[in-house]
Amino acid sequence: MDSLPYLQDSHLPRHVAIIMDGNGRWAQEKNLPRIEGHRQGSETVEAIVEASREIGIAHLTLYAFSQENWHRPQVEVRALMQLLKHFLLSKKQKLLDNDIRLLAIGQIDSLPQDVQQTLTRTIKDTRHCSSMTLTLALSYSSRGEILDAVNLAIRQAMAKNEPSLLMDEKSFDQLLYTDGRVPPDLLIRTSGEYRISNFLLWQMAYTELYFTDKLWPDFKKEDLLLALQEYYQRERRFGRTREQVLATC
Ligand code: FPP
Repeated sequence: MDSLPYLQDSHLPRHVAIIMDGNGRWAQEKNLPRIEGHRQGSETVEAIVEASREIGIAHLTLYAFSQENWHRPQVEVRALMQLLKHFLLSKKQKLLDNDIRLLAIGQIDSLPQDVQQTLTRTIKDTRHCSSMTLTLALSYSSRGEILDAVNLAIRQAMAKNEPSLLMDEKSFDQLLYTDGRVPPDLLIRTSGEYRISNFLLWQMAYTELYFTDKLWPDFKKEDLLLALQEYYQRERRFGRTREQVLATC
């Protein structure tokens, strides 16, 4: 399988971001409570993290909980928080064994205290791992992230008594939760919805978008491979002409 061209390191996306959608519909189709869909969805998280590590993807970002998700029924929010905590506690050793560093983006201080503590601990304990980063977007809103960055820039300028607030893309990028890290090359969204849903809006300026009808709990390594195969066929021009791109190959 490693000889397939789309799996060669030079052709792989360095950073894959995923909007994991369809847990609720998966459960409803089976007459199960929505939370069963999320539970199965966290099994998929484990499988896809493992597959990404095997394939050699350097950075994986998963949209696990948006700021808008706080408006869901309290019982579902509580269950999601418990699932997240359970995932962090039960999979920490696996992250360490696979040399995977955990990171988080979002308004982490709005998570329940116990989840925050478990998250902070796992981030700290895996900070030396370097084969792959797994970033969980939690209580995340891209507009919120951009506003937080703007407000941070203003506060920093005021603290230094700087009269003007001129920034370039690089310095702004470093003020985001993603802290100047590599932007996603490929975004995958499951469940047949064609939206970005307030996810990494700044970072995805040149990201390739891939949509699949598969519901997240049904998404398997084979589906990830299909997305990578499709990515391999895309021509990324970053605003240049085809001839210019071909000349640099
Ligand atoms: C979207 O499906 C999914 C979420 C809002 C939560 C995603 C959470 C998990 C995959 C499990 C826990 C996460 C980790 C990292 C262990 P939906 O409920 O909106 O589905 P629907 O559109 O079919 O209703």
